Amino acid sequence: MKLGFLFIISVITINSICAYPNKQLPTINLVKRVSVATNYTNAIVKAVRMRQAAINKYSNYPELNLTSISNEISSVTASANKTLSDIASNINGTISDNILSKSTKGKCTFNIKNIQQDEAYYAEIIIGNQKFSCLLDTGSSNLWIPNKNCTSASCQNHNSFESSKSPTFKSEGNPWSILYGSGSASGVTGKDNIKIGQVTAEDQIFGLADLVSDVFLPLESDGNCGMAFDSLNTMDSGAPTLVSTLINQNKINPLFSFHCSHYLDFDDQGTLTLGGVDESKFTGEITYSPVIPGTGFWSIPLIDALVNGEPTLNLARPAIIDTGTTLLMIPPDDAAAIHKQIPGSEYDSQDSIYIIPCNTTAVVSLNFGGVEYNIPPRDLIFSPISGTQCVSSIIPAYILEPLPIWLCGQTFLKNVYSVFDVGNKQVGFAHSK
Ligand SMILES: *[C@@H]1O[C@H](CO)[C@@H](O)[C@H](O)[C@H]1NC(C)=O
Ligand SMILES: *[C@@H]1O[C@H](CO)[C@@H](O)[C@H](O)[C@H]1NC(C)=O
Ligand SMILES: *[C@@H]1O[C@H](CO)[C@@H](O)[C@H](O)[C@H]1NC(C)=O
Ligand SMILES: *[C@@H]1O[C@H](CO)[C@@H](O)[C@H](O)[C@H]1NC(C)=O
Ligand SMILES: *[C@@H]1O[C@H](CO)[C@@H](O)[C@H](O)[C@H]1NC(C)=O
Ligand SMILES: *[C@@H]1O[C@H](CO)[C@@H](O)[C@H](O)[C@H]1NC(C)=O
Repeated sequence: MKLGFLFIISVITINSICAYPNKQLPTINLVKRVSVATNYTNAIVKAVRMRQAAINKYSNYPELNLTSISNEISSVTASANKTLSDIASNINGTISDNILSKSTKGKCTFNIKNIQQDEAYYAEIIIGNQKFSCLLDTGSSNLWIPNKNCTSASCQNHNSFESSKSPTFKSEGNPWSILYGSGSASGVTGKDNIKIGQVTAEDQIFGLADLVSDVFLPLESDGNCGMAFDSLNTMDSGAPTLVSTLINQNKINPLFSFHCSHYLDFDDQGTLTLGGVDESKFTGEITYSPVIPGTGFWSIPLIDALVNGEPTLNLARPAIIDTGTTLLMIPPDDAAAIHKQIPGSEYDSQDSIYIIPCNTTAVVSLNFGGVEYNIPPRDLIFSPISGTQCVSSIIPAYILEPLPIWLCGQTFLKNVYSVFDVGNKQVGFAHSK
């Protein structure tokens, strides 16, 4: 009932307009949410569960050749390490902001909504003639929604697809599955026209899930929209993602960009722009970093992480930019180096997480492409475990062990404007307005 209610809200508030060109975006006030962090035990349990979910999510790709990825990472990160001052010019911000914002073709901006306290964001999609809300996930490539015949609990409290009622549906019937948290989602593939914003991908391959893990029970979104590269799509061994289809069918320019709103900024509205950038949401330049080849993820070199301006890494790290992850999941040694510089931080060895003072004033910044982007103290705090102590949003975790991968989720992303440049295989960041 709660979810049904939320879905109604989302239908009303997710407005879609496509900028042809320079139309003003509608501003919608977000409803203030009730804090989910009042159960102190829950905060640690939740952080630990999120780490496990992230590790499981990234264990989906056993075919990844870690040796070859490791070589690619070494060469890209070594060059980042050696040429810090050159990197911005080396990377070459190929598409200038100017070209992007003035493009009258194939650009479409629409509102997105956050789940809980910025855990993730979702948008409305229409498959054939049926509406769903879809979690926008740059850390995976599968697009699926519950099938009508799914009996999992997570399908009962979400919208499900009735293929017999869509005149444009074409069955394909290839089995697929993907691992999430404590379970998985699986089913068969089908094709239909899928509309997002004001653009429609024709004959898009998607998954009809007849088994959905309980981790999706509390989510407001019905299904998942993967926005990483096609090679990671577990459907039809690398089927084109929704974004790829839109690009291939010439519906959008080959890029997309996020402004992920902050749940404490009530008058702020998150947006996704397909085919361009939403210039009302950032200031200054967009600085790009090249995608490290070979993974299929949006992985780029992280040049350094700083606490109050003090560097903590002596070597660049590969960072996966994942809008579907909430926190920062980083190699344990790096987490230790960072927390060592946060006054009052303590390591909880039982749960392998850090506890920091809730009133910390520490600012962690990440350097991408030679520019530092801040994570303010309010986002360094995940959730309180007492009146004065909080779980840190920086979680020690081995993602794709033994690679020293950083998984950059919303703790970082909601504080920047992010551009996923499919055409030039680079990720750009700008300071949020
Ligand atoms: C708090 O959370 C823990 C762990 O999720 C749970 O076991 C406990 O029942 C919760 N307590 C309350 C009062 O909701
Ligand atoms: C993985 O990549 C390395 C280096 O590119 C290569 O030597 C090796 O044969 C590859 N392994 C597999 C199983 O493909
Ligand atoms: C960036 O790319 C453009 C077009 O490919 C090229 O003309 C320009 O010289 C490049 N700039 C740098 C600094 O490499
Ligand atoms: C649900 O329907 C699909 C075809 O749309 C079929 O492949 C699958 O076996 C069915 N699952 C269940 C649990 O009935
Ligand atoms: C990276 O730079 C740091 C600091 O300049 C240096 O200590 C380290 O040896 C360098 N590493 C590599 C692999 O070049
Ligand atoms: C944070 O709170 C503690 C008490 O829990 C207090 O001693 C300390 O001075 C506070 N620090 C700041 C920076 O406000």
